[in-house]
Amino acid sequence: MHGKVKVTASAMSSAISTEAIPDELQIVLERELMDLPPLPLVASRLVEALGDTETAVSDLSRLIGMDQGIAAKVLRLVNSSYYGFARQVTTLGHAIVILGFNTVRNLALAVATLENFPISKQAPIDLNHFWEHSIGVAVCAQIMARRKRLPVKVVEEAFLAGLLHDIGKMFLCQHFPENYRAALEDAWAEKVPISVTEERHCGAAHTLVGRRIAERWNLPPALVMTISLHHNVAQAQSNFEMVAVVNAADALTRATKIGFVGDPLPPTLSPEVVSWLQADAKMLQEVQEELKTRVQEAREFLKLATGK
Ligand SMILES: [Fe+2]
Ligand SMILES: [Fe+2]
Repeated sequence: MHGKVKVTASAMSSAISTEAIPDELQIVLERELMDLPPLPLVASRLVEALGDTETAVSDLSRLIGMDQGIAAKVLRLVNSSYYGFARQVTTLGHAIVILGFNTVRNLALAVATLENFPISKQAPIDLNHFWEHSIGVAVCAQIMARRKRLPVKVVEEAFLAGLLHDIGKMFLCQHFPENYRAALEDAWAEKVPISVTEERHCGAAHTLVGRRIAERWNLPPALVMTISLHHNVAQAQSNFEMVAVVNAADALTRATKIGFVGDPLPPTLSPEVVSWLQADAKMLQEVQEELKTRVQEAREFLKLATGK
């Protein structure tokens, strides 16, 4: 349902008409979405270059170097105790040589997209846990996309799709903290998916809000689709593979107890995803193990990316 929504306030209300949603909530939500800052230019350029196997090390350093704040954070992360390099890494080019192209690009993407969402202590979901979940899903989505031998572009976009899949939740928590608290309370009391009570209290589910953010940031169609349909895989008429990978990564990350984003219901893999993945228990367990070994990296990522 959400996947076909046109980007207008009236379409939003028709798309979420299962509950009576106060008009004023829609209007406020619409206004807040309009005020969302654009994606930092560096992030837009990095997104454009995803899947482009021609991008060279020098291009990547130049791109990240366009934003000194982001470049400095990437270097801080590279020099953090997690990586444990004996010598100070002072240039992006050097960082790419020792850490690899993909790692540095993913670090920069995470830093640049997180810039718009600072950690606030008042948020109804612990934002450290939120980002831990998001980074866990990003890493897990990439592991699974590789295992499924999906095209390079999909593998590369899967990280970002995982990182941003719940961005609508973050937005709702920051802009409507009281409404979101009520949505969480109802979801826990009624044991229903959080999307149901988000619609009731915030005017739209996080999937729809996330879709709007992704469109505003001009993210590629596959990412818009994934953010919009990560809880409704069966509706993904195109880009099914990426939606399926993120849906599966979401469930696995939650099952691995990495991060927490408020949902009361235990994670489940949808049947179409299970059959597409041909996921046997052993394979899922292996993915979980690989994910666990990379969690520490995700935590380090988080601390520096959010400036804490
Ligand atoms: Fe979600
Ligand atoms: Fe999630």
